[in-house]
Amino acid sequence: MSKTFVIIKPDAVAAGLVGDILGRYERAGLRIEALQLRQIDGSFADHHYVEHIEKDFYPPLRKFMISGPLVAAILSGDQAIEKVREINGATDPAQADPGTIRADHATSVRENCVHGSDSEKTAEREIALWFPELTG
Ligand code: CMP
Repeated sequence: MSKTFVIIKPDAVAAGLVGDILGRYERAGLRIEALQLRQIDGSFADHHYVEHIEKDFYPPLRKFMISGPLVAAILSGDQAIEKVREINGATDPAQADPGTIRADHATSVRENCVHGSDSEKTAEREIALWFPELTG
């Protein structure tokens, strides 16, 4: 049993895809442990994407992530990190396998509908940042 952190990004919330996306995770056997609709500011985005802030793609990504409400969630289950990444598909929707969220719905490598933690260590860091009240 492991935990992972997921964001349903502003493009997917605006497109009315929250139910579809959460349903995909639940049908894969994952359980929703925490769920929050919120809008973040630039400083919070900088903390979340700390490893990307020097990259060329970061300024427009930052703008996108603060452009509207998003959904933050903690999911748990067997192989939760790997399952979510498989369901999400490749970062670039053009490379994503058919049937994945990004292949089905994402419009660009930036506006790619979802984020999922890439390792156990990242999941711990992201859960502590987004849900500090649940972290000891
Ligand atoms: P995410 O899984 O949230 O992790 C980092 C995000 O940066 C990624 O999804 C994309 O939204 C964005 N990203 C990664 N690579 C690029 C790129 N080459 N151009 C624009 N955005 C990118």
